[in-house]
Amino acid sequence: MWDYSEKVIDHYRNPRNVGKIDNADAVGEAGSLACGDSLKIYLKIENNIVTDAKFQTFGCGSAVASSSILTEMIIGKTVEEVRKITNKDIADQLGGLPPEKMHCSVMGYEALEDALKNYGDYTDLDDLRNEEANNNKEEKIVCTCFGITENVIWDAIKINGLKTVEEVTNYTKAGGACGRCKGAIQDIIDTYYKKTKESSLSPAQKILKINNIIENQISPELKKDGGDITLVDIDGDKVLVKLRGRCSGCKNSHLTLKAFVETTLRETVDKNIEVIEV
Ligand code: FES
Repeated sequence: MWDYSEKVIDHYRNPRNVGKIDNADAVGEAGSLACGDSLKIYLKIENNIVTDAKFQTFGCGSAVASSSILTEMIIGKTVEEVRKITNKDIADQLGGLPPEKMHCSVMGYEALEDALKNYGDYTDLDDLRNEEANNNKEEKIVCTCFGITENVIWDAIKINGLKTVEEVTNYTKAGGACGRCKGAIQDIIDTYYKKTKESSLSPAQKILKINNIIENQISPELKKDGGDITLVDIDGDKVLVKLRGRCSGCKNSHLTLKAFVETTLRETVDKNIEVIEV
């Protein structure tokens, strides 16, 4: 028998925000009934803020609890804040999940990602994925038993630091039936860690790159509208800046100035960068 936190039990017994939103602004799905569990999430978004969220799920208690807490986590947040939520955040918010049930938190993350991928003109440039994968519109199915794609496995490895096939199975279900895909899963793990090693920057290289991107990419963009940016300090992943003006020419016009700077630095330097205005 698995050990569940009180929060998991509470959200399973009293799920919040169950149902459907008519005329939702974003809808996302993950899993499928054929694979044992599925989740559909509906979002109402006004002025870039998620004002309502509901879900319909078919799955175990952990799937219900993960979906329920996810809706509570996102209501009241901006779209940019919601985009940063990972399956790890969902599991942490629940006070943890048994390893064998982590795939329920991944299903929540996937459904959220699916809902937001077509909202606005946001593009998540993952510099660790190779170009071919980014350009490949047809997602490659690695585990046919559960319909799990390469991208889902890749994200689960990256977000949760998974190192073994067994961990990937716990988090995504891939490999948990006939086992034919286990070799392919191992290949993805090997590729991920090879690329991570190749692409990781030393702290000094990171500071240099941030400086370079601000000077040659962000600042010229802001100057077009009479604005500018001054780099005040870099503390690990935190980048402290002074901002002036606006950014009507920025490619994502719905972004605030700070969000534009943060998105650019995340796309070009490191996904974990947080921009703080001082
Ligand atoms: S193909 Fe992945 S478990 Fe069967």
